[in-house]
Amino acid sequence: MTEPETSLSLRRVAHPSNANHQGTIFGGFILSVIDEAAYLEARRHGVHRWVTVTMDRIEFKAPVHVGDVLSIFTTAVKKGRSSITVHVKVQVERWLGGATIEVTNATVKMVAVDHAGHAIDFRSPPTVVPEA
Ligand SMILES: CC(C)(COP(=O)(O)OP(=O)(O)OC[C@H]1O[C@@H](n2cnc3c(N)ncnc32)[C@H](O)[C@@H]1OP(=O)(O)O)[C@@H](O)C(=O)NCCC(=O)NCCS
Repeated sequence: MTEPETSLSLRRVAHPSNANHQGTIFGGFILSVIDEAAYLEARRHGVHRWVTVTMDRIEFKAPVHVGDVLSIFTTAVKKGRSSITVHVKVQVERWLGGATIEVTNATVKMVAVDHAGHAIDFRSPPTVVPEA
């Protein structure tokens, strides 16, 4: 069996508006970045509307500081009928010092849905079409 591919799905700079009064980045900001990266991974497997059904085992291993550059890596670790389970790893390059470390990881389950919000087979042809 071939190993699932890991992709760099998103890069972001941590801005002061994402920080708390102590200058470290809000966990909620990191969660939103994880959610977006999981969507980008899911979209590689089917052009549909995707919703997040679960976010599991989120581990904040080290703080993120203003100015750090986040790189979010994703791997589709499990595929069901309508769902894809994505492992998300958040790495930062420190603004001060330039060291690269893993700060957070999580497992996110995404579900492909139709226009009415019902789960669909994500292997079906694209259900999102550009407007004319
Ligand atoms: C995701 C959603 C469409 C699933 O609806 P549902 O009626 O449970 O649909 P189904 O029973 O057909 O399940 C669809 C898939 O979701 C998975 N699933 C549903 N509930 C789940 C749960 N609580 N935990 C893990 N997986 C779940 C099922 O295993 C299934 O996967 P599969 O098709 O790959 O086997 C529905 O729960 C929903 O709309 N949730 C809100 C999503 C949302 O708004 N997210 C944004 C965050 S606020």
